Amino acid sequence: MNEVIRQLAARRSVRAFEDRDIPGEVRAAILEAAAQAPTAGNQQLYTILDVTDPQLKARLAETCDHQPFIAQAPMVLIFLADVCKWLDAYREAGCEPRAPGAGDVMLAASDAAIAAQNAVTAAWSLGVGSCYIGDVMERCEEHREMLNLPPHVFPAAMLVLGYPTEQQARRPKPERFNMADIVCENVYRRKDGAALRRMFAGRCALRGYDAWMDAFCRRKYNSDFSREMTRSVEAYLRDYGLVRAEDGGEDGRPGARADSSAPGAPGVPERGPEA
Ligand SMILES: Cc1cc2nc3c(=O)[nH]c(=O)nc-3n(C[C@H](O)[C@H](O)[C@H](O)COP(=O)(O)O)c2cc1C
Repeated sequence: MNEVIRQLAARRSVRAFEDRDIPGEVRAAILEAAAQAPTAGNQQLYTILDVTDPQLKARLAETCDHQPFIAQAPMVLIFLADVCKWLDAYREAGCEPRAPGAGDVMLAASDAAIAAQNAVTAAWSLGVGSCYIGDVMERCEEHREMLNLPPHVFPAAMLVLGYPTEQQARRPKPERFNMADIVCENVYRRKDGAALRRMFAGRCALRGYDAWMDAFCRRKYNSDFSREMTRSVEAYLRDYGLVRAEDGGEDGRPGARADSSAPGAPGVPERGPEA
């Protein structure tokens, strides 16, 4: 195994940091590594916010689902999917850019996430740990105001970085699914119930599949933060005309729509053979 692959396997999220700064040259190397990531059409459809203001960090620790370690991180980066700057650049030249849409925001979000992951990998190679904070996608209205975000700028990823505490350095990395469960040859194969139960066997060993899955679904998927994330991202997507203002849940609550991906829903095939 070479050093790059060894480090990718060794990296894990770090949520507690030593009380020491990251030197300027190390911060610069992490940011430069982000900028060297592959990027669609070499456009760098992102802007990176280097959050240095302790008060802003403290506020983000609250608005990003009350995660206090955000405020304690020596380095906080927000990767904005930035379609706005290219629209502005086109207009500056007198072009008449078409209205941006779904493809544009997906491309910019991909660009932002790929740049963020380069930063994660570079940081780890320099002894700096990191953790993504997905909750930065929540609270659209508040984050727009706090971070001065214009239309067509969406916070796709946030990273907190710092030197891991001794305890964090020793923490085992959570296990991944078996490769056979995450790779399909050529075409997608939907897993049936037996295959799903096999896939999760390692994770559910103690509580059993049904109980473990029920608890996970309550905590992660049907949770308040997850519903808020969906509501908030839909608010950002209104810039692209992708979500009509009157679209709420069926009963008016965000995220309360019927599951249109369920087997039997229009256009969704029943589960096929497992493998
Ligand atoms: C998009 C994304 C969002 C995440 N959001 C959070 C978060 O808000 N809080 C947190 O503690 N960890 C967050 N994580 C870290 C994951 O929990 C972590 O990557 C996962 O449990 C696997 O562990 P590992 O990174 O140590 O391998 C996030 C990771 C990703 C990729």
